[in-house]
Amino acid sequence: MKSKFGFLIMALACVFVASISVRAEGPPAWAYGFNTPPGAAAPAAAPAAAPTPPAPDPTPRHVPGSDKVFVRQQIANQYGPADWFPGDHGPMPDIVAHGRQESMIAACSLCHYPNGKGRPENAGVAGLPNSYFIQTMHDFRDGMRKSADPRKANTNRMISFAKNMTEEEIQAAAEYFGTMKWTPWMTKVVESATVPKTRPNNGMFLTLEGNEKEPIGERLIETPVDAEATEILRNDHSGFIVYAPPGSLKKGEALVKTGAGRTTACGLCHGEDLKGLGPVPGLAGRSPSYIGRQLYDMQAGFRKGEWTSLMRPVVAKLSDDDLIAITAYIASMTP
Ligand code: HEC
Ligand code: HEC
Repeated sequence: MKSKFGFLIMALACVFVASISVRAEGPPAWAYGFNTPPGAAAPAAAPAAAPTPPAPDPTPRHVPGSDKVFVRQQIANQYGPADWFPGDHGPMPDIVAHGRQESMIAACSLCHYPNGKGRPENAGVAGLPNSYFIQTMHDFRDGMRKSADPRKANTNRMISFAKNMTEEEIQAAAEYFGTMKWTPWMTKVVESATVPKTRPNNGMFLTLEGNEKEPIGERLIETPVDAEATEILRNDHSGFIVYAPPGSLKKGEALVKTGAGRTTACGLCHGEDLKGLGPVPGLAGRSPSYIGRQLYDMQAGFRKGEWTSLMRPVVAKLSDDDLIAITAYIASMTP
């Protein structure tokens, strides 16, 4: 009799634990550039302020296809970073090229690159509709757009820039980036059960020396094709490689195109082939880490701007697995 009850209690406990663990999953660490969930005790917290600038290094640096020469201090200059390919874009407004130092607004081109293609730990901003760009800057400013992971220091910086920018500066940046075409960035999406070992580095994953592999697990890994080109040189022509678990692309395609009973077909609002529709931003070919963060931030209520309510039913039922599949498929689409 006693053992029968014991079994029942255990079974109930299992159901209870299972239903909790679904909700307690928390932010998918891979999308936020961490190996562990927020609040995990193990590694030291990320620096709260800007990453420390590199030590003085007078070595002249070059990138293929550019006749420019910069040293590391210039490349990482918060208020006027290197522009390797000025021929890629029109004249940059001052706020994009230099930011505004007295208000501690770093140059937009530092993180989003002069060509607006951005990096996995921030965002691609080229080709965003003007009204969306302005609205989302206001959402950052008004506390309606935060990161679900409080360790994500660069999102906190983005919020402080938006708070300190003038309306004219926001409009100038929206006009500059918005009139640029969004072109493919991602080199390729690879489905694989094993991936190169990586380490988190200021919000992005870099592969370790020595070509060691590990199981991908329930993650998507986005990493530079050439870590030095991206991390040291900030070469805005050097792209990224995306690893996703086998089967992700097919599953993602079904979710994106039909909703697969779990969500709404994305093209309804984001346009055919997710190239954008009126004020709704395009998604095709954008960073899967970025998109994964936004979907989770919206689901968990950290992103709740005026227009975000349209996304609420879309994200309500998505699991971690769905996020991996959807973002892998979207990254593989040609904008
Ligand atoms: C220190 C790095 C950094 C700088 C400099 C920076 N941003 Fe950002 N920006 C971010 C990050 C990080 C995000 C994404 C936040 C997230 O994923 O949580 C972002 C997101 C954005 C977005 C949202 C994109 C979208 O698709 O919704 C816009 C718009 C934007 N930034 C504009 C700007 C402008 C304009 C400037 C220049 C004044 C600027 N940013 C400077 C880090 C930066
Ligand atoms: C009913 C219309 C609608 C549908 C359907 C829809 N979206 Fe959206 N989506 C929007 C709107 C509007 C925004 C802008 C939200 C905001 O300003 O916060 C948005 C924003 C987003 C963003 C943030 C973009 C950025 O640049 O930060 C992502 C990512 C996204 N949607 C993904 C999806 C995916 C994936 C699907 C399909 C599974 C989907 N959406 C279906 C209307 C929709």
